[in-house]
Amino acid sequence: MTSRKATARAHPNIALVKYWGKRDAALVLPHQSSFSVTLAPLEVTTTVELDAGPSRVELNGREATGAERDRVLALVNLVAHEAGRPLGGVRVVSRGNFPMAAGLASSAAGFAALARATRAAAGLPDDVARTSRLARAGSGSAARSVQGGFCTWQRGQRPDGEDSFATQDFPESHWPELRLLACVVSGAEKDVSSRDGMAATVETSPYYRAWVEDAEAEVPRARDAVRRRDLAALGVLAERNAWRMHATALAAEPPCCYLRPGTLAVVLALPGARAKGCPVYFTLDAGPNPVLLTTAEHVARVEALARAAGASDVLRCAPGGDARLVDGALF
Ligand code: PMV
Repeated sequence: MTSRKATARAHPNIALVKYWGKRDAALVLPHQSSFSVTLAPLEVTTTVELDAGPSRVELNGREATGAERDRVLALVNLVAHEAGRPLGGVRVVSRGNFPMAAGLASSAAGFAALARATRAAAGLPDDVARTSRLARAGSGSAARSVQGGFCTWQRGQRPDGEDSFATQDFPESHWPELRLLACVVSGAEKDVSSRDGMAATVETSPYYRAWVEDAEAEVPRARDAVRRRDLAALGVLAERNAWRMHATALAAEPPCCYLRPGTLAVVLALPGARAKGCPVYFTLDAGPNPVLLTTAEHVARVEALARAAGASDVLRCAPGGDARLVDGALF
């Protein structure tokens, strides 16, 4: 059988209303919906070759092993199932253009690109809902990196997860002056993965139910703030949603604390900047490095503020486009 090969590229995304907690760990089904924006120019490029001999998976220059490799091969198996034929051994090479120390989920962009490329290599037609469901199986947040701009991942109701995927609410062109600055305050590996942290939170945090109800209700409000391009409304909402996710994780047993002194140094500098007329807000994933929301006009000032508060690197981003097939295979 002739081998087939495809290459895709996707942006990571940052959640403005976070996903935190699975109702089904095997299918990666969330307890609540979430809402995010993709981050250009950060991107991951992934080349997939099917029927390529013994399976090999290379992520950012090193051979993937164990659970990491298994997650990639499990996604390829799902595509084989849909294609209705075995795809043979696969070769996957994936590379990001941004420092892993930034703590931005390269897995979101990586699995979105992998899902797009594998479906194309298997000859399946482009279908954003199917691609998003597939990416979800690799890493929940990857469901939201299949389309660009601003996307909602609907939690869905079905036990088989068929209704749990992300769709685009607004393309990147809707709010071109929005800026997102990823601030590196700590390059250390986190002690607890988001996978383990959210599982511990679901099982032991007494605040978990309140988190689910609140986050679900925040999604349409966040969408409305984006629709109006209202940075203050979106910023206030993103901040409170980040605090509430971390609060429910902190209340787990043992506590799950992703905040570091450098995180607070940046985050606590923001109210003072706002009082001086600089519109800047934060959000924070399951790691120490905050992402600051502002507009193009204020980027230089916000970057200076983050560096003065101790950030060692600041990556300037804006809303990015869809995951897409590209030329230029990585092997
Ligand atoms: O997709 P995962 O399993 O890496 O989980 C991501 C969880 C957060 O980044 C903290 C929130 C989110 O919605 O992206």
